[in-house]
Amino acid sequence: MHLIHIVFLLLSWPPLILAQGPLLPFEAEGFLDAFVAFFRSKGFKDGVSIVESLPSKYIADFASLFNGSMTFLFPAFVPNATLNNLLNDTEKIFDVLAYHVVDTPLGNANIPVYPNHTVLPSALNDTASVLLRTGESQSMVLTRLTDGIIHVLEQGVTDINITSLDSFTIPGLNISYGYAVVSELLTAPGTLNDTLQALNITAFASNTHIANAIEETSTEPGITLFVPEDAGLVSEIASWAHLSTDSLDDIVNNHVINGTYYFKSLVGTLRNAADQELSFDGTTVTLKGGNTANITKSDVLTQNGVVHVIDKALLTSPLKSPASTSGDVTILCPTWASLLAVVVAGLFYAL
Ligand SMILES: *[C@@H]1O[C@H](CO)[C@@H](O)[C@H](O)[C@H]1NC(C)=O
Ligand SMILES: *[C@@H]1O[C@H](CO)[C@@H](O)[C@H](O)[C@H]1NC(C)=O
Ligand SMILES: *[C@@H]1O[C@H](CO)[C@@H](O)[C@H](O)[C@H]1NC(C)=O
Ligand SMILES: *[C@@H]1O[C@H](CO)[C@@H](O)[C@H](O)[C@H]1NC(C)=O
Ligand SMILES: *[C@@H]1O[C@H](CO)[C@@H](O)[C@H](O)[C@H]1NC(C)=O
Ligand SMILES: *[C@@H]1O[C@H](CO)[C@@H](O)[C@H](O)[C@H]1NC(C)=O
Ligand SMILES: *[C@@H]1O[C@H](CO)[C@@H](O)[C@H](O)[C@H]1NC(C)=O
Ligand SMILES: *[C@@H]1O[C@H](CO)[C@@H](O)[C@H](O)[C@H]1NC(C)=O
Ligand SMILES: *[C@@H]1O[C@H](CO)[C@@H](O)[C@H](O)[C@H]1NC(C)=O
Ligand SMILES: *[C@@H]1O[C@H](CO)[C@@H](O)[C@H](O)[C@H]1NC(C)=O
Ligand SMILES: *[C@@H]1O[C@H](CO)[C@@H](O)[C@H](O)[C@H]1NC(C)=O
Repeated sequence: MHLIHIVFLLLSWPPLILAQGPLLPFEAEGFLDAFVAFFRSKGFKDGVSIVESLPSKYIADFASLFNGSMTFLFPAFVPNATLNNLLNDTEKIFDVLAYHVVDTPLGNANIPVYPNHTVLPSALNDTASVLLRTGESQSMVLTRLTDGIIHVLEQGVTDINITSLDSFTIPGLNISYGYAVVSELLTAPGTLNDTLQALNITAFASNTHIANAIEETSTEPGITLFVPEDAGLVSEIASWAHLSTDSLDDIVNNHVINGTYYFKSLVGTLRNAADQELSFDGTTVTLKGGNTANITKSDVLTQNGVVHVIDKALLTSPLKSPASTSGDVTILCPTWASLLAVVVAGLFYAL
């Protein structure tokens, strides 16, 4: 059966035909068979069982992910619970595999040394598991330690590294792909809630209204959230209990950008969800009319965008002033002042 496929492949596929749209079912099956045979020959078991269990209706989609200079991150190991779960619920397998495909060769040239890193898009774009803007796929973050080993960051507590880089050729085709053996199956980013928990950041969302606003943000497709780390917030968060819900919304909106901006695209100025200007200079972010914070950890991926950790909250001047620690009613003024300004402007306009 494999032979027949390969003969068909040989007869019907010039190299790189994979770049040309959907495959006929037998072509895609031939691709999958060759793929499985190769990794089995390398002695891998867990990853092979997952690929083999891909339901047949997804095989053509899987083969068509490899339409360029793809690298497949092949898992050397899959934890038992995950493996059993996938083999029992094979509908999940396609998305899991798609998250292991990147459309670039990996190596020293494109993976910088830690703490620098690169964010590479994977092939995972299923709207059931990715909540980014239309056409955007979920990414992964890679870095190289000084010992030369590439690590996949943001994988929870698991430190996943690449144990070898090589290429494999699909028999019958003069076409080869890169593969990287990863020490463990990768997990695509979870919800914003999961992401903040994994970062151990709790102070910001300890205010119930802020927690609810973050919850709403977690369903917006494609956001950037600057989240203050606990150390920069614990001393003042309690005083925010006195703020109006509008003021709290403004605070949250100061920290959100509509759109997924990974660290490398934080340059110049961008408008936040409060329609204020954020300006970027290296690792600092400045809120116009407010304060500057340091970005202490960048590119923490989440299901609907990206989180950057900052060392203090981004507040406009009346709030950032230490005098406001009493939490008295004057803090409410920015909201009222801006409402009043709108009313006054409206009056002038009406006149
Ligand atoms: C592979 O397919 C994707 C989605 O259809 C497309 O965006 C990309 O340009 C294709 N790459 C090549 C090399 O054809
Ligand atoms: C994993 O599962 C296999 C068979 O399903 C079993 O033989 C093995 O002992 C399990 N390993 C662990 C660590 O549970
Ligand atoms: C297998 O999946 C079904 C639902 O898809 C679930 O009810 C069942 O508990 C699962 N079994 C195991 C062993 O995980
Ligand atoms: C990280 O990138 C910055 C800016 O390009 C560079 O100055 C710095 O030397 C890099 N750090 C490492 C460890 O390569
Ligand atoms: C996901 O990518 C595939 C190609 O890799 C493309 O054919 C498909 O339309 C994309 N789906 C979405 C929802 O963007
Ligand atoms: C790479 O991961 C494997 C498996 O988790 C581990 O045994 C090894 O020590 C890691 N290597 C490095 C350099 O971190
Ligand atoms: C395969 O392609 C390479 C370049 O991509 C070429 O040098 C080589 O001659 C080709 N081999 C065959 C058998 O077509
Ligand atoms: C978010 O995480 C908290 C624990 O930190 C939990 O209590 C809450 O239910 C979670 N919310 C959702 C929507 O999962
Ligand atoms: C979060 O806290 C847990 C338990 O205290 C710790 O194991 C983990 O390393 C912490 N994670 C981060 C990202 O600080
Ligand atoms: C975010 O931007 C998109 C595209 O410009 C727009 O469709 C969407 O309504 C915006 N979302 C919010 C909450 O402003
Ligand atoms: C950012 O951090 C650097 C070094 O950690 C420090 O010198 C600088 O003052 C910080 N900037 C701000 C705005 O906090």
